[in-house]
Amino acid sequence: MIDFEGKHIGLFGGTFDPFHNAHRQLIVSALEQLPLDVVLVMPLGQAPHKKRRISLAAHRYEMARLGIDGLSRVVVSDDEIRTPGVDYTYETILRLKEQHCPAAITVLVGSDVLLSIDSWYRVKDLMGEISLAVVRRGDDDIKVLENKAEETAARYGAKIVFFDMPPSMLASSDLRRIHENQGDFRDKCPDSVVAFIERHRLYSLSPVYSMVDDDDWERLVALEGWSWRFISQERRVHSASVAQYAGKLASLYEVDIWKAIAAGLLHDMAKEFPLEEQKDLARQYLDDETLFLTLSDDLMHGPAAAKFISKTCGKCEVEFLDAIAFHSTGRGDMSVLGQILFLADKIAFDRTFRRLDAIRSLAEDGNLDDAMKLCLEEIFTALKYSGVEVNSLSLNAYRKYAGGASS
Ligand SMILES: [Fe+2]
Ligand SMILES: [Fe+2]
Repeated sequence: MIDFEGKHIGLFGGTFDPFHNAHRQLIVSALEQLPLDVVLVMPLGQAPHKKRRISLAAHRYEMARLGIDGLSRVVVSDDEIRTPGVDYTYETILRLKEQHCPAAITVLVGSDVLLSIDSWYRVKDLMGEISLAVVRRGDDDIKVLENKAEETAARYGAKIVFFDMPPSMLASSDLRRIHENQGDFRDKCPDSVVAFIERHRLYSLSPVYSMVDDDDWERLVALEGWSWRFISQERRVHSASVAQYAGKLASLYEVDIWKAIAAGLLHDMAKEFPLEEQKDLARQYLDDETLFLTLSDDLMHGPAAAKFISKTCGKCEVEFLDAIAFHSTGRGDMSVLGQILFLADKIAFDRTFRRLDAIRSLAEDGNLDDAMKLCLEEIFTALKYSGVEVNSLSLNAYRKYAGGASS
Protein backbone atom coordinates (compact mmCIF):
# COMPACT_ATOMS: atom_id res chain seq x y z
CA MET A 1 0.00 0.00 0.00
CA ILE A 2 1.28 3.44 -0.90
CA ASP A 3 1.98 5.72 2.05
CA PHE A 4 0.02 8.98 1.86
CA GLU A 5 0.67 10.06 5.43
CA GLY A 6 1.38 13.79 5.62
CA LYS A 7 0.88 14.12 1.85
CA HIS A 8 -1.37 16.54 0.01
CA ILE A 9 -3.65 14.34 -2.08
CA GLY A 10 -5.55 15.49 -5.14
CA LEU A 11 -8.57 13.20 -5.44
CA PHE A 12 -9.94 12.74 -8.94
CA GLY A 13 -13.04 10.57 -9.05
CA GLY A 14 -15.24 9.58 -11.96
CA THR A 15 -16.66 6.69 -13.90
CA PHE A 16 -13.77 6.77 -16.41
CA ASP A 17 -15.98 5.04 -18.94
CA PRO A 18 -13.76 5.47 -20.84
CA PHE A 19 -10.70 7.25 -19.44
CA HIS A 20 -10.04 9.90 -22.10
CA ASN A 21 -7.48 12.53 -23.04
CA ALA A 22 -9.20 15.32 -21.13
CA HIS A 23 -8.96 13.23 -17.92
CA ARG A 24 -5.24 12.85 -18.47
CA GLN A 25 -4.81 16.54 -19.28
CA LEU A 26 -6.73 17.53 -16.14
CA ILE A 27 -4.35 15.46 -14.01
CA VAL A 28 -1.27 16.93 -15.70
CA SER A 29 -2.59 20.50 -15.27
CA ALA A 30 -3.49 19.91 -11.61
CA LEU A 31 -0.02 18.58 -10.81
CA GLU A 32 1.58 21.54 -12.58
CA GLN A 33 -0.52 24.25 -10.97
CA LEU A 34 -1.58 23.02 -7.53
CA PRO A 35 0.64 22.19 -4.53
CA LEU A 36 -0.22 18.47 -4.67
CA ASP A 37 2.10 15.59 -3.77
CA VAL A 38 0.03 12.98 -5.58
CA VAL A 39 -3.17 12.58 -7.59
CA LEU A 40 -5.35 9.67 -6.64
CA VAL A 41 -7.55 8.58 -9.54
CA MET A 42 -10.60 6.81 -8.15
CA PRO A 43 -13.02 4.98 -10.45
CA LEU A 44 -16.54 4.96 -9.06
CA GLY A 45 -17.87 1.73 -7.57
CA GLN A 46 -21.63 2.06 -7.33
CA ALA A 47 -23.32 5.14 -8.72
CA PRO A 48 -25.98 6.81 -6.53
CA HIS A 49 -28.50 6.27 -9.33
CA LYS A 50 -28.94 2.59 -9.99
CA LYS A 51 -30.60 3.27 -13.32
CA ARG A 52 -27.22 4.33 -14.61
CA ARG A 53 -25.40 1.66 -16.63
CA ILE A 54 -21.64 1.94 -16.77
CA SER A 55 -19.02 -0.57 -17.81
CA LEU A 56 -17.92 -3.18 -15.29
CA ALA A 57 -15.46 -1.92 -12.71
CA ALA A 58 -12.57 -4.13 -13.86
CA HIS A 59 -12.74 -2.61 -17.35
CA ARG A 60 -12.97 0.97 -16.08
CA TYR A 61 -10.20 0.47 -13.52
CA GLU A 62 -7.98 -1.02 -16.23
CA MET A 63 -8.64 1.91 -18.57
CA ALA A 64 -7.68 4.35 -15.78
CA ARG A 65 -4.51 2.34 -15.10
CA LEU A 66 -3.58 2.36 -18.79
CA GLY A 67 -4.60 6.00 -19.17
CA ILE A 68 -2.19 7.33 -16.54
CA ASP A 69 0.74 5.30 -17.77
CA GLY A 70 3.92 7.38 -17.87
CA LEU A 71 2.66 10.04 -15.43
CA SER A 72 4.55 10.31 -12.18
CA ARG A 73 2.84 11.09 -8.85
CA VAL A 74 -0.42 9.54 -10.06
CA VAL A 75 -1.99 6.43 -8.55
CA VAL A 76 -5.26 4.63 -9.37
CA SER A 77 -7.24 3.55 -6.32
CA ASP A 78 -9.88 0.82 -6.16
CA ASP A 79 -11.16 2.03 -2.77
CA GLU A 80 -14.69 2.88 -3.96
CA ILE A 81 -14.93 -0.30 -6.04
CA ARG A 82 -14.02 -2.46 -3.05
CA THR A 83 -16.30 -0.65 -0.63
CA PRO A 84 -19.85 -2.06 -0.58
CA GLY A 85 -22.79 0.22 -1.25
CA VAL A 86 -23.32 3.51 -3.01
CA ASP A 87 -20.23 5.72 -3.15
CA TYR A 88 -20.48 9.22 -1.77
CA THR A 89 -17.42 11.47 -1.90
CA TYR A 90 -17.95 12.54 1.70
CA GLU A 91 -17.60 8.96 2.95
CA THR A 92 -14.65 8.28 0.65
CA ILE A 93 -12.87 11.31 2.11
CA LEU A 94 -13.48 10.17 5.69
CA ARG A 95 -12.11 6.70 4.82
CA LEU A 96 -9.04 8.16 3.13
CA LYS A 97 -8.34 10.34 6.15
CA GLU A 98 -8.78 7.48 8.59
CA GLN A 99 -6.64 5.03 6.60
CA HIS A 100 -3.89 7.32 5.34
CA CYS A 101 -3.70 10.45 7.55
CA PRO A 102 -2.93 12.79 4.62
CA ALA A 103 -2.03 16.43 5.36
CA ALA A 104 -4.83 17.66 3.09
CA ILE A 105 -7.20 16.48 0.38
CA THR A 106 -8.15 18.58 -2.60
CA VAL A 107 -10.94 17.22 -4.75
CA LEU A 108 -10.40 17.89 -8.46
CA VAL A 109 -13.56 18.57 -10.43
CA GLY A 110 -14.74 19.88 -13.75
CA SER A 111 -16.59 23.19 -13.93
CA ASP A 112 -19.90 21.38 -14.49
CA VAL A 113 -19.51 19.80 -11.05
CA LEU A 114 -19.13 23.17 -9.36
CA LEU A 115 -22.35 24.34 -10.98
CA SER A 116 -24.25 21.35 -9.58
CA ILE A 117 -22.50 21.23 -6.20
CA ASP A 118 -25.66 21.90 -4.18
CA SER A 119 -26.99 18.44 -5.04
CA TRP A 120 -23.96 16.66 -3.55
CA TYR A 121 -24.42 14.35 -0.58
CA ARG A 122 -23.76 16.21 2.73
CA VAL A 123 -22.15 19.04 0.83
CA LYS A 124 -21.56 21.28 3.87
CA ASP A 125 -19.84 18.49 5.84
CA LEU A 126 -17.83 17.57 2.77
CA MET A 127 -16.64 21.13 2.27
CA GLY A 128 -15.43 21.13 5.88
CA GLU A 129 -13.09 18.22 5.07
CA ILE A 130 -11.60 19.23 1.72
CA SER A 131 -10.58 21.97 -0.67
CA LEU A 132 -12.17 22.00 -4.07
CA ALA A 133 -10.04 22.61 -7.16
CA VAL A 134 -12.16 23.47 -10.17
CA VAL A 135 -10.66 23.20 -13.61
CA ARG A 136 -11.37 26.08 -15.97
CA ARG A 137 -11.33 25.18 -19.59
CA GLY A 138 -10.75 27.87 -22.19
CA ASP A 139 -14.35 27.62 -23.33
CA ASP A 140 -15.93 28.01 -19.86
CA ASP A 141 -17.84 31.16 -18.87
CA ILE A 142 -15.38 32.41 -16.25
CA LYS A 143 -17.76 34.97 -14.72
CA VAL A 144 -20.46 32.35 -14.08
CA LEU A 145 -17.90 30.06 -12.44
CA GLU A 146 -16.48 32.79 -10.22
CA ASN A 147 -19.93 33.82 -9.05
CA LYS A 148 -20.81 30.23 -8.24
CA ALA A 149 -17.52 29.75 -6.39
CA GLU A 150 -18.18 32.88 -4.27
CA GLU A 151 -21.71 31.76 -3.49
CA THR A 152 -20.50 28.23 -2.58
CA ALA A 153 -17.75 29.59 -0.34
CA ALA A 154 -20.24 31.82 1.47
CA ARG A 155 -22.91 29.14 1.87
CA TYR A 156 -20.76 26.17 2.93
CA GLY A 157 -17.48 27.74 4.02
CA ALA A 158 -15.93 25.98 1.02
CA LYS A 159 -12.29 26.54 0.08
CA ILE A 160 -12.25 26.76 -3.71
CA VAL A 161 -9.35 27.30 -6.07
CA PHE A 162 -9.25 27.29 -9.85
CA PHE A 163 -6.75 25.79 -12.21
CA ASP A 164 -6.64 25.87 -15.98
CA MET A 165 -6.41 23.42 -18.82
CA PRO A 166 -6.46 23.98 -22.55
CA PRO A 167 -9.91 24.11 -24.16
CA SER A 168 -10.86 20.50 -24.50
CA MET A 169 -11.65 19.00 -27.84
CA LEU A 170 -13.69 16.55 -25.92
CA ALA A 171 -17.04 17.50 -24.49
CA SER A 172 -18.83 14.72 -22.64
CA SER A 173 -21.64 15.00 -25.17
CA ASP A 174 -19.12 14.05 -27.88
CA LEU A 175 -18.23 10.95 -25.95
CA ARG A 176 -21.84 10.06 -25.42
CA ARG A 177 -22.48 10.31 -29.13
CA ILE A 178 -19.54 8.03 -29.79
CA HIS A 179 -20.87 5.60 -27.21
CA GLU A 180 -24.28 5.57 -28.78
CA ASN A 181 -22.81 4.82 -32.17
CA GLN A 182 -20.39 2.33 -30.60
CA GLY A 183 -17.84 4.38 -32.45
CA ASP A 184 -14.26 5.25 -32.73
CA PHE A 185 -12.31 6.44 -29.70
CA ARG A 186 -9.08 7.12 -31.57
CA ASP A 187 -7.65 10.58 -30.82
CA LYS A 188 -10.07 10.86 -27.92
CA CYS A 189 -8.39 8.48 -25.48
CA PRO A 190 -4.76 7.53 -24.84
CA ASP A 191 -3.60 4.95 -27.40
CA SER A 192 -3.35 2.15 -24.85
CA VAL A 193 -6.96 2.80 -23.79
CA VAL A 194 -8.13 2.75 -27.40
CA ALA A 195 -6.33 -0.56 -27.94
CA PHE A 196 -7.98 -1.99 -24.82
CA ILE A 197 -11.46 -0.84 -25.89
CA GLU A 198 -11.01 -2.29 -29.34
CA ARG A 199 -9.56 -5.58 -28.20
CA HIS A 200 -12.30 -6.19 -25.65
CA ARG A 201 -15.10 -4.80 -27.92
CA LEU A 202 -16.09 -2.92 -24.78
CA TYR A 203 -18.71 -0.61 -26.17
CA SER A 204 -20.08 -2.79 -28.92
CA LEU A 205 -21.00 -5.34 -26.24
CA SER A 206 -22.20 -2.89 -23.59
CA PRO A 207 -25.83 -2.51 -24.83
CA VAL A 208 -26.47 -5.86 -23.12
CA TYR A 209 -26.15 -4.09 -19.74
CA SER A 210 -29.25 -2.05 -20.42
CA MET A 211 -31.19 -5.30 -20.78
CA VAL A 212 -30.67 -6.06 -17.07
CA ASP A 213 -33.27 -4.53 -14.76
CA ASP A 214 -32.28 -1.99 -12.12
CA ASP A 215 -32.27 -4.27 -9.08
CA ASP A 216 -30.33 -6.99 -10.87
CA TRP A 217 -27.86 -4.41 -12.10
CA GLU A 218 -27.29 -3.26 -8.55
CA ARG A 219 -26.68 -6.88 -7.54
CA LEU A 220 -24.12 -7.31 -10.33
CA VAL A 221 -22.21 -4.23 -9.23
CA ALA A 222 -22.23 -5.54 -5.67
CA LEU A 223 -21.06 -9.01 -6.81
CA GLU A 224 -18.15 -7.57 -8.74
CA GLY A 225 -17.17 -5.45 -5.73
CA TRP A 226 -17.37 -8.51 -3.47
CA SER A 227 -15.28 -10.76 -5.72
CA TRP A 228 -12.70 -7.99 -6.33
CA ARG A 229 -10.49 -8.82 -3.37
CA PHE A 230 -10.08 -12.49 -4.29
CA ILE A 231 -8.47 -12.09 -7.70
CA SER A 232 -5.70 -10.16 -9.42
CA GLN A 233 -6.43 -7.32 -11.84
CA GLU A 234 -5.53 -9.49 -14.82
CA ARG A 235 -8.10 -12.06 -13.79
CA ARG A 236 -10.70 -9.38 -13.03
CA VAL A 237 -10.38 -8.10 -16.59
CA HIS A 238 -10.74 -11.64 -17.93
CA SER A 239 -13.79 -12.23 -15.72
CA ALA A 240 -15.41 -8.97 -16.80
CA SER A 241 -14.83 -9.81 -20.45
CA VAL A 242 -16.28 -13.30 -19.95
CA ALA A 243 -19.23 -11.73 -18.12
CA GLN A 244 -19.89 -9.28 -20.92
CA TYR A 245 -19.70 -11.91 -23.65
CA ALA A 246 -21.79 -14.37 -21.61
CA GLY A 247 -24.39 -11.62 -21.27
CA LYS A 248 -24.43 -11.17 -25.02
CA LEU A 249 -24.84 -14.91 -25.66
CA ALA A 250 -27.56 -15.08 -23.00
CA SER A 251 -29.47 -12.34 -24.83
CA LEU A 252 -29.39 -14.51 -27.99
CA TYR A 253 -30.56 -17.70 -26.29
CA GLU A 254 -33.21 -16.22 -24.00
CA VAL A 255 -31.24 -17.10 -20.91
CA ASP A 256 -31.42 -14.77 -17.89
CA ILE A 257 -28.82 -12.14 -18.76
CA TRP A 258 -28.03 -11.19 -15.19
CA LYS A 259 -27.27 -14.82 -14.32
CA ALA A 260 -24.90 -15.13 -17.27
CA ILE A 261 -23.09 -11.91 -16.35
CA ALA A 262 -22.92 -12.91 -12.68
CA ALA A 263 -21.56 -16.36 -13.58
CA GLY A 264 -18.92 -14.72 -15.76
CA LEU A 265 -17.87 -12.36 -12.99
CA LEU A 266 -17.54 -15.15 -10.43
CA HIS A 267 -16.36 -18.16 -12.44
CA ASP A 268 -12.64 -17.80 -11.65
CA MET A 269 -12.94 -16.28 -8.20
CA ALA A 270 -11.33 -19.29 -6.47
CA LYS A 271 -8.46 -19.58 -8.92
CA GLU A 272 -6.02 -17.73 -6.68
CA PHE A 273 -7.06 -19.49 -3.47
CA PRO A 274 -4.32 -21.73 -2.01
CA LEU A 275 -4.48 -25.08 -3.83
CA GLU A 276 -5.33 -27.05 -0.68
CA GLU A 277 -8.30 -24.77 -0.06
CA GLN A 278 -9.42 -25.17 -3.67
CA LYS A 279 -9.23 -28.95 -3.33
CA ASP A 280 -11.12 -28.93 -0.08
CA LEU A 281 -13.92 -26.80 -1.51
CA ALA A 282 -14.03 -28.77 -4.79
CA ARG A 283 -14.30 -32.07 -2.92
CA GLN A 284 -17.20 -30.70 -0.91
CA TYR A 285 -18.99 -29.38 -3.99
CA LEU A 286 -18.66 -32.54 -6.09
CA ASP A 287 -19.45 -34.92 -3.23
CA ASP A 288 -18.15 -37.71 -5.48
CA GLU A 289 -14.65 -38.91 -4.70
CA THR A 290 -14.21 -40.74 -8.00
CA LEU A 291 -15.08 -37.62 -9.96
CA PHE A 292 -12.94 -35.46 -7.68
CA LEU A 293 -9.93 -37.69 -8.31
CA THR A 294 -10.21 -37.14 -12.08
CA LEU A 295 -9.58 -33.41 -11.69
CA SER A 296 -6.08 -32.06 -12.16
CA ASP A 297 -4.99 -29.16 -9.97
CA ASP A 298 -5.89 -26.50 -12.50
CA LEU A 299 -9.44 -27.84 -12.77
CA MET A 300 -10.19 -27.48 -9.05
CA HIS A 301 -11.08 -23.80 -9.17
CA GLY A 302 -14.49 -24.25 -10.87
CA PRO A 303 -16.13 -26.52 -8.29
CA ALA A 304 -14.19 -24.66 -5.57
CA ALA A 305 -15.77 -21.37 -6.64
CA ALA A 306 -19.22 -22.95 -6.77
CA LYS A 307 -18.85 -24.24 -3.21
CA PHE A 308 -17.41 -20.97 -1.94
CA ILE A 309 -20.27 -18.99 -3.48
CA SER A 310 -22.95 -21.29 -2.08
CA LYS A 311 -21.35 -21.15 1.38
CA THR A 312 -20.93 -17.40 1.36
CA CYS A 313 -24.01 -16.20 -0.48
CA GLY A 314 -26.50 -18.71 0.89
CA LYS A 315 -29.07 -20.33 -1.34
CA CYS A 316 -28.12 -20.36 -5.01
CA GLU A 317 -29.67 -22.18 -7.95
CA VAL A 318 -27.97 -25.47 -8.84
CA GLU A 319 -27.97 -24.49 -12.52
CA PHE A 320 -25.97 -21.35 -11.69
CA LEU A 321 -23.50 -23.16 -9.43
CA ASP A 322 -23.04 -26.05 -11.87
CA ALA A 323 -22.32 -23.62 -14.70
CA ILE A 324 -19.47 -22.21 -12.60
CA ALA A 325 -18.33 -25.61 -11.30
CA PHE A 326 -17.93 -27.10 -14.79
CA HIS A 327 -16.85 -24.02 -16.73
CA SER A 328 -13.38 -25.48 -17.38
CA THR A 329 -14.30 -29.05 -18.23
CA GLY A 330 -17.84 -28.96 -19.52
CA ARG A 331 -19.74 -32.21 -19.01
CA GLY A 332 -22.26 -34.42 -20.74
CA ASP A 333 -25.30 -32.81 -19.20
CA MET A 334 -25.06 -29.03 -19.39
CA SER A 335 -27.71 -26.35 -19.14
CA VAL A 336 -27.76 -23.61 -21.77
CA LEU A 337 -26.34 -21.28 -19.10
CA GLY A 338 -23.55 -23.81 -18.53
CA GLN A 339 -22.77 -23.95 -22.26
CA ILE A 340 -22.78 -20.15 -22.46
CA LEU A 341 -20.33 -19.76 -19.59
CA PHE A 342 -18.10 -22.57 -20.88
CA LEU A 343 -17.91 -20.91 -24.30
CA ALA A 344 -17.64 -17.33 -23.06
CA ASP A 345 -14.66 -18.37 -20.93
CA LYS A 346 -12.90 -19.67 -24.05
CA ILE A 347 -13.99 -17.20 -26.74
CA ALA A 348 -14.51 -13.84 -24.99
CA PHE A 349 -12.56 -11.09 -26.65
CA ASP A 350 -9.60 -11.32 -24.28
CA ARG A 351 -8.72 -14.69 -25.85
CA THR A 352 -6.68 -15.54 -28.88
CA PHE A 353 -6.49 -18.97 -30.45
CA ARG A 354 -6.86 -20.58 -33.79
CA ARG A 355 -10.49 -21.16 -34.64
CA LEU A 356 -11.87 -18.50 -32.34
CA ASP A 357 -13.86 -16.62 -34.98
CA ALA A 358 -15.44 -19.81 -36.28
CA ILE A 359 -16.56 -20.78 -32.77
CA ARG A 360 -17.89 -17.27 -32.12
CA SER A 361 -19.85 -17.32 -35.37
CA LEU A 362 -21.47 -20.63 -34.48
CA ALA A 363 -22.32 -19.44 -30.96
CA GLU A 364 -23.72 -16.12 -32.16
CA ASP A 365 -25.70 -17.70 -35.02
CA GLY A 366 -27.75 -19.99 -32.81
CA ASN A 367 -25.57 -23.11 -33.09
CA LEU A 368 -24.54 -23.47 -29.50
CA ASP A 369 -24.04 -27.25 -29.65
CA ASP A 370 -21.81 -26.99 -32.74
CA ALA A 371 -19.85 -24.21 -31.05
CA MET A 372 -19.33 -26.52 -28.06
CA LYS A 373 -18.10 -29.32 -30.33
CA LEU A 374 -15.63 -27.11 -32.17
CA CYS A 375 -14.44 -25.47 -28.98
CA LEU A 376 -13.82 -28.83 -27.32
CA GLU A 377 -11.89 -30.00 -30.38
CA GLU A 378 -9.68 -26.93 -30.08
CA ILE A 379 -9.12 -27.59 -26.39
CA PHE A 380 -8.25 -31.25 -27.06
CA THR A 381 -5.74 -30.20 -29.72
CA ALA A 382 -4.13 -27.72 -27.32
CA LEU A 383 -4.00 -30.31 -24.54
CA LYS A 384 -2.48 -32.92 -26.83
CA TYR A 385 0.14 -30.41 -27.87
CA SER A 386 0.99 -29.81 -24.21
CA GLY A 387 0.93 -33.51 -23.37
CA VAL A 388 -1.99 -33.12 -20.94
CA GLU A 389 -4.65 -35.80 -20.70
CA VAL A 390 -8.25 -34.78 -21.49
CA ASN A 391 -10.58 -34.94 -18.49
CA SER A 392 -13.40 -37.51 -18.68
CA LEU A 393 -16.04 -34.80 -18.14
CA SER A 394 -14.81 -33.02 -21.25
CA LEU A 395 -14.89 -36.30 -23.21
CA ASN A 396 -18.48 -36.82 -22.11
CA ALA A 397 -19.32 -33.32 -23.26
CA TYR A 398 -17.67 -33.97 -26.61
CA ARG A 399 -19.56 -37.22 -27.13
CA LYS A 400 -22.78 -35.37 -26.54
CA TYR A 401 -22.09 -32.42 -28.83
CA ALA A 402 -20.47 -34.55 -31.51
CA GLY A 403 -23.73 -36.48 -31.65
CA GLY A 404 -22.73 -39.58 -29.67
CA ALA A 405 -24.15 -40.80 -26.40
CA SER A 406 -23.30 -38.88 -23.25
CA SER A 407 -22.79 -40.53 -19.93
FE1 LIG B 1 -11.45 -20.91 -15.10
FE1 LIG C 1 -11.86 -18.07 -16.92
